[in-house]
Amino acid sequence: MDDSTPAMTPDATRDADRTTREPVVVVDHVNKHFGDLHVLKDINLTVGKGDVVVVLGPSGSGKSTLCRTINRLETFESGQILIDGQPLPEEGKALAQLRADVGMVFQSFNLFAHKTILQNVTLGPIKARGQNKAAAEKRALELLERVGVAQQKDKYPAQLSGGQQQRVAIARSLAMDPKVMLFDEPTSALDPEMINEVLDVMTSLAKSGMTMIVVTHEMGFARRAADRVVFMADGEIVEQNTPEEFFTNAQSSRAKDFLSKILTH
Ligand SMILES: Nc1ncnc2c1ncn2[C@@H]1O[C@H](COP(=O)(O)OP(=O)(O)OP(=O)(O)O)[C@@H](O)[C@H]1O
Ligand SMILES: [Mg+2]
Repeated sequence: MDDSTPAMTPDATRDADRTTREPVVVVDHVNKHFGDLHVLKDINLTVGKGDVVVVLGPSGSGKSTLCRTINRLETFESGQILIDGQPLPEEGKALAQLRADVGMVFQSFNLFAHKTILQNVTLGPIKARGQNKAAAEKRALELLERVGVAQQKDKYPAQLSGGQQQRVAIARSLAMDPKVMLFDEPTSALDPEMINEVLDVMTSLAKSGMTMIVVTHEMGFARRAADRVVFMADGEIVEQNTPEEFFTNAQSSRAKDFLSKILTH
């Protein structure tokens, strides 16, 4: 088969699945440019409740831009994005609410350096959700326990390892009770020995039913945790399929080329 084969054809099974799950994120004919660069080309993606979607693709293909657009950190020119049935708000309070509904974990940990671990996790719920301090702390401790860093609660970010900081960043996002979690290469700034502790947290999150969109180069995670792999190249979704099908039977030449490069090292 060549590139002219419609990308969705081999994906009939997942299409059927998707309709049985309530959509949490709908990206509908979205286009975006950076000047002359058409960075998102007619992107269509539906992520159902509890779906774990791993986004793969070569550098510069638009993966981060897609995540940032879903979280409204970037604008787009045409199409629409719905979160839990609601269009993305332009600005103001509604946008702040949307940002709270969409948790995002980046490559860099972005913790507040001058706040303790516990304060980092309680800040959002207290400020943006209006929770009282005691309730926010109780929940924060549960989440820090869940990601395995509760003992570090009174330390400052710089006193933690990168893997621990990234797990705190995950707990901090979860504290807002997001409807979906976006991860943009959450392990790529970590030393190798810390990658697995973060991936383990993400895998258990996936198993708990969290709706997740994950940009990663960790193919083991994709195979283990993803319901679906979305492959992007040059601003397009070229194909999407189950991990099993994608890794053993990629359809497009661009996906085959990508896989041959990443699976040989
Ligand atoms: N703010 C910006 N202004 C102009 N061009 C940008 C901007 N952000 C990204 N780009 C360009 O858009 C394209 C897609 O970038 P993006 O960061 O989304 O790719 P990516 O798939 O996440 O790549 P990587 O795997 O390297 O992280 C690239 O060509 C990049 O140079
Ligand atoms: Mg990127």
